[in-house]
Amino acid sequence: MDILVVGGGGREHAVIKALKKSRRAGKIYALPGNGGIAADAECVPVKATDIAGIVAIARERNVDFAVVTPDDPLVMGCVDALEAAGVPCFGPTKDAAIIEGSKVFSKNLMKKYGIPTAASEVFTDPAAAEEYLRTAHYPTVIKADGLALGKGAVIVGSFDEAQKTIREMMVDKVFGASGERVLIEEFLTGPEVSVLSFTDGKIVVPMVSSMDHKRAKDNDEGLNTGGMGTVAPNPYYTPEIAAECMEKIFLPTVRAMNAEGRTFKGCLYFGLMLTADGPKVIEYNCRFGDPETQVVLPLLQSDLLEIMLAVRGGSLRPDMVRFSPGAACCVVLASEGYPKKYETGYPITMPEVGANEAIYVAGAKFENGQLVTSGGRVLGAVATADTLKGAVDAAYALAGRIHFENAYMRRDIGRRALMAQGKQ
Ligand code: AMP
Ligand code: GLY
Repeated sequence: MDILVVGGGGREHAVIKALKKSRRAGKIYALPGNGGIAADAECVPVKATDIAGIVAIARERNVDFAVVTPDDPLVMGCVDALEAAGVPCFGPTKDAAIIEGSKVFSKNLMKKYGIPTAASEVFTDPAAAEEYLRTAHYPTVIKADGLALGKGAVIVGSFDEAQKTIREMMVDKVFGASGERVLIEEFLTGPEVSVLSFTDGKIVVPMVSSMDHKRAKDNDEGLNTGGMGTVAPNPYYTPEIAAECMEKIFLPTVRAMNAEGRTFKGCLYFGLMLTADGPKVIEYNCRFGDPETQVVLPLLQSDLLEIMLAVRGGSLRPDMVRFSPGAACCVVLASEGYPKKYETGYPITMPEVGANEAIYVAGAKFENGQLVTSGGRVLGAVATADTLKGAVDAAYALAGRIHFENAYMRRDIGRRALMAQGKQ
C-alpha cells in the first residue's frame, strides 16, 4: 500500500519509520516532511495546512492510505477532505478533532459526562474575565480556547499577571481568534502523564504511557516549549491508575463523543494529572503527541499500519496492539535560544545508529548536499533498553555522538521518572 503522511516533524519521522516496518507498506510520501525524513520517505513540498494541495497529491500519486498527524490539518478537516476524495485515512474528522480544537468544547464535554477535570469558567468578555480574576485563588490557569502552538495555557501567580495575560489573549489577540474565548481554570498539582491511545470509536486501546518534559531548562525551569524530551513508560502510571483511567476517563470520553454524534477514530491523547483526588484530564489532543510518539512507537511490537487500518475500519482489537516490556528515552537537541530567538543553517554530523537507537529529525533541511539545522527543535536522540536507566543513558550517549554548532539539550530528561521508580 502506498501511504501519504501529512506533517514534517520528529513525530512524523517516528510514524514513518514505524510504518516502513509494516509488511504491507509500499511507497511512503511525507507532506512536507523535512531533510531528515527524506531518508525514509519521498518528501513533497506541500504545507500540512494546504488541504487542497494534500488532496491533489493523494490523487495524483494514487495513494492507498493517508495518515494525518498534526493538529491544524485535523481541526481544519483534512481527513474529511481526503475521505471525500476516496482516500481512506487514519485520523479524526473535523467534528471529532474539536476535542483538541476547542478547549471550551472539551471542558463542556467533560462537565456534561462527569469526566474528572479541573473546575473552570468560560469568558468571552475581557472585562468580565478581569472582574472574576480579582477574587480568584492564585496560582490559577488561563487557557485560550483554540489552537495556540502549545502555548495557550498560562499559569499566573497574581492578579497583575492574570490581567496581563487576559489583555494579551483577548485584546491584543496574540493567538488570533484562538483567544477570543478563554477558560480560567483551577490550578491542579500532581505528576503529569501522557497516554496516547488508539480508538476506533468502539474500544480504546491505550499505548504505553509516557512523560513529557515541556520546560526549556533543567529542573523544569525556563519557558514552555514543544517538548525537550520524553520517557516511556511513566513510572507514576501504575496498573491500578491505568484501570481507573480506563473506567473513569478513556471509555467515558469515547462514549461521550459517540453520544454527541462526533465519533472519534484515530489516536486520542489524554494529558492527565494524577492529583490527590485521582487522575484528572488536563487536555485532550486529537493526535499523536510530540515528542511522546518518539518514545512510544519504538516500543510498539505490532504492525502500526495494520492497527491504523483497523482503527479506520472499526475493527480494532486489544490483541493487535502489543508493546515491548522495555523502556525508551528521547533527548531533544534544539538550537540554542529556543523557544525564543535562535540561529539556523548549521551543518549536522549524524552518527551511525544501532538497533536500539533512532534519530528522529524535526527541524533540518538539505542544503548543497548537507543536512543543516532549520528549526528550534532540531532532532530527537532516542534509545530503547530493558530498563528506564538503560534507555536514558543510551539516549544521552547517542545525543553525544550528534554534532552541530549551537546545539542545546536538557541534561535531566528522565531524572524525575528514575527518582519515582526508586521510590516504588
Ligand atoms: P495544556 O496546553 O492544556 O496542555 O497545558 C500545558 C501545561 O500547563 C500542562 O502540561 C500543565 O503542566 C499545565 N497545566 C495546564 N492546566 C493546568 C491546571 N489546571 N493545573 C495545573 N497545571 C496545568
Ligand atoms: N507533547 C505534548 C503535545 O504533543 O501536545
